[in-house]
Amino acid sequence: MEISFFNMMEIPPRTKLFDFHGILMANYFTDTWEKVQNFKARPDDILIATYPKAGTTWVSYILELLYFGQTAPDRLTSIPIHERVAFLEISDPTMDAGVDLAEKLPSPRLIKTHLPIQLVPKSFSEQNCKIVYVARNAKDNVVSYFHFDSMDVRQPEPGDWNSYLNRFMEGKVVFGSWYDHVNGWWKKKQTYSKLHYMFYEDMIENTEREIDKLCSFLGLSPSIEEKKQIRGEVQFDSMRKNDMLNYSSFPNMDFTISKFMRKGKVGDWKNHFTVAQNEEFDEDYKRKMKDPTLQFRTEI
Ligand code: A3P
Repeated sequence: MEISFFNMMEIPPRTKLFDFHGILMANYFTDTWEKVQNFKARPDDILIATYPKAGTTWVSYILELLYFGQTAPDRLTSIPIHERVAFLEISDPTMDAGVDLAEKLPSPRLIKTHLPIQLVPKSFSEQNCKIVYVARNAKDNVVSYFHFDSMDVRQPEPGDWNSYLNRFMEGKVVFGSWYDHVNGWWKKKQTYSKLHYMFYEDMIENTEREIDKLCSFLGLSPSIEEKKQIRGEVQFDSMRKNDMLNYSSFPNMDFTISKFMRKGKVGDWKNHFTVAQNEEFDEDYKRKMKDPTLQFRTEI
């Protein structure tokens, strides 16, 4: 049997979902809410916003390498990513609350959030902060989330795959509806020029091209050598092996159930959806995703 750090810990109870300002949430994302709402962003903060499991860690690491890869490389090899990138809304007794960690970070502070646009502290747009949003197609996103909810034993009980899929379609998972999340942030992009909206599928298709686009949004011009190095370090296999990125020492994750860096592919949904589930999902998707300008690819 594989021994994980988790096996040595007392198993914490799974949390229950509850309604929080119109979306479903778990208490360890709302316990510091007053501080989150009053969070004072700084103009050079960079907010990484995603629905859970859309590629947050991947893009966070790219940003870290761009900003600190040359100036503070030791930081990246000696401190786990959850202590380098502040998870704004998290309040977990095993680590600093996101709002507190943010106070300790070097500039530019990289701050991640899974909040839907309407719950993000106003300070980020008041300070005109750059925001990088990453979206992933709903089918792969729900598969990844299902495996994550199975292995992260803080998360609410996932149940079986079929019931999980139905709850995802109804928005009854932590951080609420995927459909509202991706649409809400897409709308924000139309009025807020400092928002760069990326797609996981584009990153898989051509990581280099997407890093170039990200750099032009950020106003960065890394050397060819630096870009090559970044491209190598952010490959799935490299990140999966990197203990500072793969969450292998994270107390609430049971790696005997699933890895955090699980497959890193587009189209894994085909190994999970039955034909009937797929038809029902597509019908429901058409009803919810009305904006023709927001298109996702479920295969590449
Ligand atoms: P899978 O479960 O489909 O493998 P997040 O960081 O938002 O929690 O997202 C996690 C998902 O991103 C996981 O998807 C993980 O494997 C994938 N991922 C992380 N790093 C990646 C990389 N370098 N390339 C491709 N996918 C990556």
